Amino acid sequence: MKVTIVGAGNVGATCADVIAYRSIASEVVLLDIRENFAEGKALDMMQTATLTGFNTAVKGSTNDYAKTANSNVVVITSGVPRKPGMTREELIGINAGIVKGVTENVLKHSPNAIIVVVSNPMDTMTYLALKESKISKNRIIGMGGILDSARFKCYLSLALNASANDLEGMVIGGHGDTTMIPLTRLASYKGVPASQFVSADVLKKVSDDTMVGGATLTSMLGTSAWYAPGAAVAALVDSILNDQKKMFPCSVYLDGEYGQKDICMGVPVIIGKNGWEKIVDIQLNDQEKAAFAKSSDAVRNMNNVLSTITI
Ligand code: 2OP
Repeated sequence: MKVTIVGAGNVGATCADVIAYRSIASEVVLLDIRENFAEGKALDMMQTATLTGFNTAVKGSTNDYAKTANSNVVVITSGVPRKPGMTREELIGINAGIVKGVTENVLKHSPNAIIVVVSNPMDTMTYLALKESKISKNRIIGMGGILDSARFKCYLSLALNASANDLEGMVIGGHGDTTMIPLTRLASYKGVPASQFVSADVLKKVSDDTMVGGATLTSMLGTSAWYAPGAAVAALVDSILNDQKKMFPCSVYLDGEYGQKDICMGVPVIIGKNGWEKIVDIQLNDQEKAAFAKSSDAVRNMNNVLSTITI
């Protein structure tokens, strides 16, 4: 199976590296506009093959989309990452044009590919990619909730002094510092509600820390994070390529589900070889429904900006 990753920056390269050493795909093409940048990262990764024991072919390309031909999955990470103090939404002016162009270029060479959108503001970029490509809504998936849920479980594991892999926790809604919704009510420790182990105040802190998890790292690193984002994309690609039917919170096009229409928002979906195959209704309570509606309003406002800028 072949995966193209557009953007050989920190997130794209990390995603390629995880896909390679976990042998998720047989071929990864890493593409960037910077001369020889993707080729260099691909060669460096290939030189780890005998050290970590993978056989994936990782290839680099300087903006030659012919090399991406017949990809099963295309991951769009290209665009600028945020700097300390910036919101993801502030990137729309630069990233919208990049995502539009990349979407057109990849589909010329891989007309049947499933497209994973990572570039921020991710929910709006996912919506843009769908509207521009006019392909089946099931083939456009925004990755944000998987990352946010991983951060949620990390913070919860620190609060519980537990293994993060013993925890369940899901973040839905927009992939924004104020729009994401960590579902603390449904968080569990080996199936036991997390509220049985920590107070409501502790759960609120875990939720608050999760919401700004990206911004926290950006302030520490001077740029957006990359290890968890890259690994989150790789987990999504794995479920697609290997038809794993995993339930992940992903940004997908809603047509009435969760009370929203004509918007891409993070909701639980089943991920398989056809992309997102089913939206799962997890019966939100009134408070969660209100938060989702408020989150949707914020994302829709961002989507409306698309019609005011030259893309
Ligand atoms: C993050 O939250 C890059 O949006 C991504 O780190």
